[in-house]
Amino acid sequence: MTSLADWPCVALPLADLAQRTTMRVGGQAELLLEPADPTELQDAFKACSQRGIAPRILGGGANLLVQDGVLPGVVIATERLRRLFRPGAAGEEPRSEEQAAAEIPGAFEASLPSGEMVQDDPARDPRLVVWAGCTLPALLRAARDLGYSGLEGLVGVPGSLGGGVAMNAGGRWGDMWDVVESVRVLGASGEFRDLTRAECQPSYRNGGLGNDWVVGAVLRFEPKPRPLIQEAMSDYLRTKNSVQPVTEWSAGCIFKNPPAEQADGRSAGELVEVSGAKELKRGDAAVSDRHGNFIVNRGEARASDVFELMQAVRQHVLDATGVALEYEVKHWTSDSQPDARVQN
Ligand code: EPU
Repeated sequence: MTSLADWPCVALPLADLAQRTTMRVGGQAELLLEPADPTELQDAFKACSQRGIAPRILGGGANLLVQDGVLPGVVIATERLRRLFRPGAAGEEPRSEEQAAAEIPGAFEASLPSGEMVQDDPARDPRLVVWAGCTLPALLRAARDLGYSGLEGLVGVPGSLGGGVAMNAGGRWGDMWDVVESVRVLGASGEFRDLTRAECQPSYRNGGLGNDWVVGAVLRFEPKPRPLIQEAMSDYLRTKNSVQPVTEWSAGCIFKNPPAEQADGRSAGELVEVSGAKELKRGDAAVSDRHGNFIVNRGEARASDVFELMQAVRQHVLDATGVALEYEVKHWTSDSQPDARVQN
């Protein structure tokens, strides 16, 4: 690979990936690039293309299992692409960097008495422009503080806007795409495109973006009093806490819920439970006793332990119920498709 200074953004050799995933397992990226804005992301992607490298993109590292050892090739992390801001007047591009930064919720929020509207009334245009690396918890807090409703159901979901949009993250109380008005993607040719919801046709755990990468999105909310938003978030989080291992290291749900007709309406977690696979373990990786569709890292689990356990659970469910579960978690290995460009 070329000298680090030749890359158009921060470039880190042999970067630890375990700390960048919610499961906290896995090895290192041969090279990790950290673009700080959408243009650097585009430049980083083009720099890879010019060198014949198909990079992988890493968001919040939820829903991702990275192999042990060194993962060959380049990983581009969206971690520094964290900004979110209110758009300018309807239809306009955001104004200058300084003005946009001043509009970041929280930057002005501290000076506001709670419940009061900001001077220019955010309810007039209840939208946010959010870059790919903004974490979902940060986005939910900002939306709540502005009195923007629509994403409360994603409370407790880790990960980033990019991954959330790419895979249409969500659950019982709503999905990411409920609020997506449009998404800016980086295509295989290295060009940005803006796509509307109708063009993407998102579905269950699939944003419909194919191999395109999410650069950012425009989200449209419903104005609502902040206390109501907070109340819904607290209720959902309480329920989630009681049935999911939210404070442990995990990659979220391991399997997609099967189509209702294939499994008599039973969820993946229920199928794991009835098949007896909840008792299974490999090293420090164990099926959560709280929820059968989660594997938790009890401390020193290796990616190989987690993957073996995933396979064993899947086989158990197949033998006991005849249902072949589909993985929701992405698995990055040296053998993954060399041109795979998966966003997580
Ligand atoms: N159940 C069991 N045993 C278990 C786990 C669940 O019997 O070990 C039963 C529950 O009692 C319930 C049913 O299975 O009757 C469904 O369980 P739950 O309500 O926990 O929802 P889920 O379908 O397992 C989905 C999403 C979660 C999301 C929750 C809540 C998928 C694969 N999972 O879980 O999303 O948090 O709803 O909104 O769509 C994720 O995708 O990573 C994820 C965690």
